Amino acid sequence: MNPKINLPFETLSWIGGLDGHVQMLEQTLLPLEEVQLEVRTVPEMVDAIYRLAVRGAPAIGVAAGYGMVLGVRGAPAGGVLEAARATKATLDAARPTAVNLSWATARILRHLEGMASSSDDELKAALLAEAHAIHAGDRDTCRRMGAHGAALIADGHTLLTHCNAGALATAGMGTALAPIYTAHAEGKRVAVFADETRPLLQGARITSWELMKAGIEVRLITDGMAARVMGEGKIDAVFVGSDRIARNGDVCNKIGTYGVAISARHHNIPFHVVAPLSTVDPALPSGDLIPIEERPAEEITEGFGNRTAPRDVQVYAPAFDVTPASLVTSIITEVGIIESPDTAKMERALRDGGVSF
Ligand code: MRU
Repeated sequence: MNPKINLPFETLSWIGGLDGHVQMLEQTLLPLEEVQLEVRTVPEMVDAIYRLAVRGAPAIGVAAGYGMVLGVRGAPAGGVLEAARATKATLDAARPTAVNLSWATARILRHLEGMASSSDDELKAALLAEAHAIHAGDRDTCRRMGAHGAALIADGHTLLTHCNAGALATAGMGTALAPIYTAHAEGKRVAVFADETRPLLQGARITSWELMKAGIEVRLITDGMAARVMGEGKIDAVFVGSDRIARNGDVCNKIGTYGVAISARHHNIPFHVVAPLSTVDPALPSGDLIPIEERPAEEITEGFGNRTAPRDVQVYAPAFDVTPASLVTSIITEVGIIESPDTAKMERALRDGGVSF
């Protein structure tokens, strides 16, 4: 149960102590079935991340943190650090775009490397504690982003969102949806247009599902309708999440986000990105360096088992795109709102958040 927004589900949790396992809501089956998936090994975790059983940048980071715990379990005596390094490499390769994944595994590895003369048991206990800290930190970060972002939402506003950047994409109340949940909890009347989000339908299957559970008015539209709805004057602001933000404020998010940003700019609608500082990759000076995941053609040609394109048709299937910083009205982080982001402002936010870069 997530008490902040009263949603009757947890995205994922760690069950038990050092010998425990991860339990996660199997998101590929939503909204028709609510099934809990148990993950006990690194290959199972890689599979869960790749299949999008757990998805959304911060949630993948939390899952990977626990994946590190699973990865050192069978390590030979004196081999915990080596096992952690190998596990990090395996988990990081599961999906390339969301930097939160490698951010979480790197944070854990750094922590272990700082415990040079510790026993295997101490290292394993520290690893689990750090994974729990990442989990708890994500909850808190969502709450803080929600508070900052809710200030941009007025009573009666209608917002548009793309993909799912809600509770199911994090361990807390979400990134893009956090300001919406917070505004709703503050008593503001808010409504949401949710883009369906081709091809894996995170907007249709997940965003509309969780907003309905939270009692927030939501209307589902196909991706191609977003510009039309903006042109009709129905949207006050766009809120989206991000999988990786370059040092200059270029924002990578689910494929289709770039088009939404262009439409928003054309219609003079604010385009807000909500993301924790763990989504900022200071190593990348601009968004064209962000690795973009390509997904299997079948996700487009026969999504959910239903063939909708000619056999053998050629397909191009990037899963993410990059919106240039010039189209971004603001980036809302846990340390505050970065208006009209650029390199200097991003670096200031990183410093404010205590991130060394
Ligand atoms: O492929 P997905 O479902 O993992 O993509 C998720 C997104 O693009 C989200 O918008 C992003 O991770 C931000 S989530 C808080």
